[in-house]
Amino acid sequence: MCPPKHFEVAYEINPWMSVERRVNQALAQKQWQALHDWLVHTAGAQVELIDPMPGLPDMVFTANAGLAAGKNFIRSRFRHRERRGEEAHFEKWFKQHGFKIRSVPEPLIFEGEGDALFLGRDLYTGFHFRSDLEAHDAVAGILRVEYEGLELADKRFYHLDTCFAPLNEKSALVFLEAFAPYARLTLLEMVPDPVSVPEAEALRFACNGVIAGSHAALPLGCPVTAQAVRDRGLTVTELDFSEFIKAGGAGKCLVLSF
Ligand code: ARG
Repeated sequence: MCPPKHFEVAYEINPWMSVERRVNQALAQKQWQALHDWLVHTAGAQVELIDPMPGLPDMVFTANAGLAAGKNFIRSRFRHRERRGEEAHFEKWFKQHGFKIRSVPEPLIFEGEGDALFLGRDLYTGFHFRSDLEAHDAVAGILRVEYEGLELADKRFYHLDTCFAPLNEKSALVFLEAFAPYARLTLLEMVPDPVSVPEAEALRFACNGVIAGSHAALPLGCPVTAQAVRDRGLTVTELDFSEFIKAGGAGKCLVLSF
């Protein structure tokens, strides 16, 4: 995770962001800390931090740093120039922590775990608004896994982790309407237990909660999703991510798992 010291909405690179809607810094800090503490105390996770950098307000969204798998770290190459400055900092951190740095061939775009999620052993990837489909060929090649490339079709759900959330080996939250028709069919066919999220909750980032083992931290205002998650045996804690939603992300984007 990356503390939100320099977090703000300083530019607009997705439909959620408006430089007119200011972030409440103190509240953002509180919300981030609550997620951090939930991960440590409820989920029993070990949390590592990277230093926040001035001028890189979206660096808090560490899910976009790359994809960590075993000792490999496949670093991202961001779509927008506003985020490109983050790349070297993340690469350095992972190098210093013993990871082997890999990357997709230039000039392909890859936005890390934001667009690449495992459900059991299967890798699901999202493309169109941010990552390139061809980048996922390279990612799958590096990791020697099969993958399903899913075309995203609604710009409000520009990263896969805004509309798809694996809960365990076979269940995943999905907001089907965010996907192109063929991708919807793929999801329904491939995911053993696809759990549909209502649109109102998808728009509250229901698919962008943090799932850690048998614990879930879901954004506020997603009761239908929360019940479906509980029905699958996970504990649910509701957390407020209002300040981060102003930048187009909730809990899941604030965490990169390895
Ligand atoms: N403002 C950031 C961007 O548009 C938000 C990133 C959210 N990350 C995510 N994994 N969905 O790039």
